[in-house]
Amino acid sequence: MNNETSFELSLRPKRLNEYIGQEKIKQQIAVFIEAAKKKDGILDHVLISGPAGLGKTTLAQVIANELGKNIVFTSGPILEKKGDLAGILSSLEEGDILFIDEIHRLNPSVEEALYPAIEDFKLDIMIGKGNSSRSIRIDLSRFTLIGATTRTGMLTSPLISRFGIILNMEYYDNNSLAQIIKRSADILSIKITDEGAFEIAKRSRGTPRIVNRLLKRVHDYAIVHGKEIIDKEVADKALTFLGINEFGLDETDIKYLSALIEKFGGRPVGLTTISSAISESKNTIEEVIEPYLLREGYIQKTPKGRIPTEKAIKIVNK
Ligand code: ADE
Repeated sequence: MNNETSFELSLRPKRLNEYIGQEKIKQQIAVFIEAAKKKDGILDHVLISGPAGLGKTTLAQVIANELGKNIVFTSGPILEKKGDLAGILSSLEEGDILFIDEIHRLNPSVEEALYPAIEDFKLDIMIGKGNSSRSIRIDLSRFTLIGATTRTGMLTSPLISRFGIILNMEYYDNNSLAQIIKRSADILSIKITDEGAFEIAKRSRGTPRIVNRLLKRVHDYAIVHGKEIIDKEVADKALTFLGINEFGLDETDIKYLSALIEKFGGRPVGLTTISSAISESKNTIEEVIEPYLLREGYIQKTPKGRIPTEKAIKIVNK
């Protein structure tokens, strides 16, 4: 584990009452967890959807902690074969949680094997080879599946329909982000004013993962410039130094918008075209760059491709 990763982990909230923001989701989860505890202790399967970096994995861990159960982490692309899934499922104990990240990227044969597992806690496995092979059905411990996805639209309806609880995470508002910054600064013994925290929050695209990364980089800047406390001025200078403008757009966003505006003259542009124009993968464009630009109204997606809005044109021409 590298430094950055262990730093991230130390900042993650462990319990629901430490988790900042996502109020609606927290209220719902609290009710479902209490009800599960009062019934048989098994939480219904949960689907968590939302953009990258909002804390879907953290939320899953918090749910496990609140239930007092183990959680096993895996992801859609890691589960290549039915056998990979069978191995994990058969190791689960009563009430354990299986977390599948990027569940929209499950191989269809693995997804199919998952259905009886989550519906009836049964697993069909093949034994033997060739003519003598046959399928047997084994019983699994009752468990909770928590699936996470950045792309609900890519999930099949039979899969979606098997989740009893669906939580849609939203980008965080600036007040919540500022609270997260204050909490992280406290854990890391970094001194920051409310205004300093708010300045970082405003420029973090509604995303806790970005907030925590920027806090660390702004702190570096403050150390090098002999500043004991991160106030608004230090935060502003550091963020500008980091190439993040007053609207929270970074150099990649500006490169993307400039391409739409200058290179393609505002005409609709397809994903493949913009991907090669700015040398970013299609995945990064669709999952990291565009969600925020769409939400903030810098671009629109039309059937023919993405186009820049007036708001984007104003910023790029500034
Ligand atoms: N760190 C990252 N995300 C957080 C959250 N939602 N609440 C508290 N701390 C966090």
